[in-house]
Amino acid sequence: MYMAILQIARMGRPVLRRPAEPVADPSAPEIRRLADDMLETMIDASGLGLAAPQVHVGLRVIVFRVLPMAAAEAEPGVRVLVNPTFEPLDDTLESGWEGCLSIPDIRGKVRRYGRIRYRGVTPDGVEVDCVATGLHARVVQHEVDHLDGVLYLDRMSDLSSLTFVDEWGDHDE
Ligand code: NI
Repeated sequence: MYMAILQIARMGRPVLRRPAEPVADPSAPEIRRLADDMLETMIDASGLGLAAPQVHVGLRVIVFRVLPMAAAEAEPGVRVLVNPTFEPLDDTLESGWEGCLSIPDIRGKVRRYGRIRYRGVTPDGVEVDCVATGLHARVVQHEVDHLDGVLYLDRMSDLSSLTFVDEWGDHDE
């Protein structure tokens, strides 16, 4: 079984702005194949996450990394979620840097919920129900936004932090 690196849609492609469709059968072989290819593509591009519309597929599928710093919340590694949803667990917003494989070479500071509960199902049919904070929560919110046609730039109330990665050295936290 070969995996494939998929072409990433960049900002301006209409598929990034269309709400994605729910997946009727998360365990279907073509969904597993899609998820495997999305993982391969994310890893090849050194991304933290990827949503199906970013590979020109209008379905509600996301993949993302759980970094070791979030080990108390989930097994570190990569995670696939079909039909993901989340809810904030409190109103606290945190500001943090984001980038997006569909908006190359740029970073900006975005305010997101600091603590969320997310749910979804894996291609193995396992129901996921997880509390996430910090970067873990941020990545999930960013990827679920893609399923609704929302880019992180849309979430920025103040564009003054926008920077090219090459110029990022001076950024403050
Ligand atoms: Ni993105």
